[in-house]
Amino acid sequence: MKKYFVIGNPIYHSLSPKLHNYWLKENNIEAVYDKKKIEEKDLQDLITKFKEKQINGINVTVPFKKIVIPYLDKLSLEAEQTQSVNTIIFSNDKLIGHNTDILGFEKAIKNLNFDMQGKKIFILGAGGVVPSIIFALNKMKVSKILISNRTKKKAEDLKSQFHNLDVLDWGDISDFDVIINATSLGLNKESINLDFSKFTNNKLFYDVIYNPSETNFLKVGKKLGNRTENGKLMFIYQAFEAFKLWHGIEPQINSDTLEILNND
Ligand code: ATR
Repeated sequence: MKKYFVIGNPIYHSLSPKLHNYWLKENNIEAVYDKKKIEEKDLQDLITKFKEKQINGINVTVPFKKIVIPYLDKLSLEAEQTQSVNTIIFSNDKLIGHNTDILGFEKAIKNLNFDMQGKKIFILGAGGVVPSIIFALNKMKVSKILISNRTKKKAEDLKSQFHNLDVLDWGDISDFDVIINATSLGLNKESINLDFSKFTNNKLFYDVIYNPSETNFLKVGKKLGNRTENGKLMFIYQAFEAFKLWHGIEPQINSDTLEILNND
């Protein structure tokens, strides 16, 4: 039986096994997808097993999206440019790192029928998924990207990869058309200590978090009269793209798919 894993630390919250196992069953593929909490020292062993075909595919999540790169033979253009890998495939005797978070975000935004072109974007956070979001936003031709992170250096460091970033101090706020919460604040019902009320409505408040489905950040955005969206579709689409890479099949995304991820 073929074996697939999502690796990360922590990993208990990951809904990837639920989604992939559902699609595997739907498509009559004899395989199993599991989650694995690992330490960095475990990576080499996993990579060896992958090359020996004891493992057939790996999704990578926080904090290994960049750390895993030296263990791979090749990167897709997007993985190279973002220095972020979330999907590994074995092809022609080579381990190849892909980044499906970018397409995941792009497809989620497309699904909203929201035109990012010319918009001013404010990103909160500078963690694992942010390079992919910035890469996708640049593809969508946004006019400006502002970023603020509690640890300012991490936001500053992103400037070497993406030259069009303006870094704000954590706690400062500036006008925006779209605000994206890419911090983990909200996973445990914490709030972000920023006053959004001085900005008029009709903005888009986007949260990468999808569990809980409505973070305090989205609740505030909604109350102020803005459009809100959580990260559920981004999550589904990145998984969709990974499934396609491994199995050559486009899995179905329908109300059942959305339903199995309702974990609140
Ligand atoms: P990683 O930083 O390991 O890639 P992540 O889950 O992708 O992990 O990112 C977590 C993000 O949430 C980071 O931007 C983090 O800020 P720091 O870089 O300062 O750690 C942010 N974050 C987590 N807890 C936070 C808090 N209590 N206040 C503000 N930002 C927080």
